[in-house]
Amino acid sequence: MKILISAGPTIEKIDPARYISNFSSGKMGYALAKSAKSLRHDVVLVSGPVSIKEIHGVKTIHVESTADMACEIRRESRNADLVIMAAAVADYRPAKFAEQKIKKSNDKMILELEKTEDILAWLGRNRRKSQTIVGFSAETENLIENAVKKLKAKKIDWIVANEIGKNDRGFSSDTNAVTLISKKGDTTEIPLMKKEKVAQRILGIIGIKEAGRV
Ligand code: CTP
Repeated sequence: MKILISAGPTIEKIDPARYISNFSSGKMGYALAKSAKSLRHDVVLVSGPVSIKEIHGVKTIHVESTADMACEIRRESRNADLVIMAAAVADYRPAKFAEQKIKKSNDKMILELEKTEDILAWLGRNRRKSQTIVGFSAETENLIENAVKKLKAKKIDWIVANEIGKNDRGFSSDTNAVTLISKKGDTTEIPLMKKEKVAQRILGIIGIKEAGRV
């Protein structure tokens, strides 16, 4: 199988000195890529800026902005059998990039933002029949309800409901606890464990076996 995975944050530049982003470390996406590779699949990883070493044998494409990630995912998804969007994609970017460093003047400053493209929703709209699409849902409240809404709105096959804002799960920890929900409504809880183990469990639940095995 060709498996395409996104990982890490995206960053949106304000001026040559500054950007907006989020706390994603990329650990969950890299763990998924490593697990998929160890099952001997052909893995492509589109990674936002992270401080994790590349995985041997995994083609890694480094990007910064949501627009760059969208471009790479659109291209690589053409022949992917499975796409997992584990990246924490920035929802908004500055409406205008300031070519020169913005100088400090007034006590308050308003930064105008515009929506970025929703890559996962694009994948849901443009999928091939045989393609499986998995999203993540980063939430601080109403975990399952919000995840199900995203699963339906983005027309994907699976969503990983992932609580953030706690020390032992979510963005920067080495462990995670998630709930995997299918479009049919099947729900599987994966309790707190190392992100590598969570990754193996996710791939197992969505039916990814070792290459060559039926
Ligand atoms: N996603 C995406 N493109 C975006 C925003 C999100 O592809 N511009 C993907 C993420 O990679 C993730 C899923 O959509 O797989 C859900 O992301 P999340 O941030 O949890 O939700 P949003 O759809 O952005 O909604 P909200 O931030 O309001 O919760």
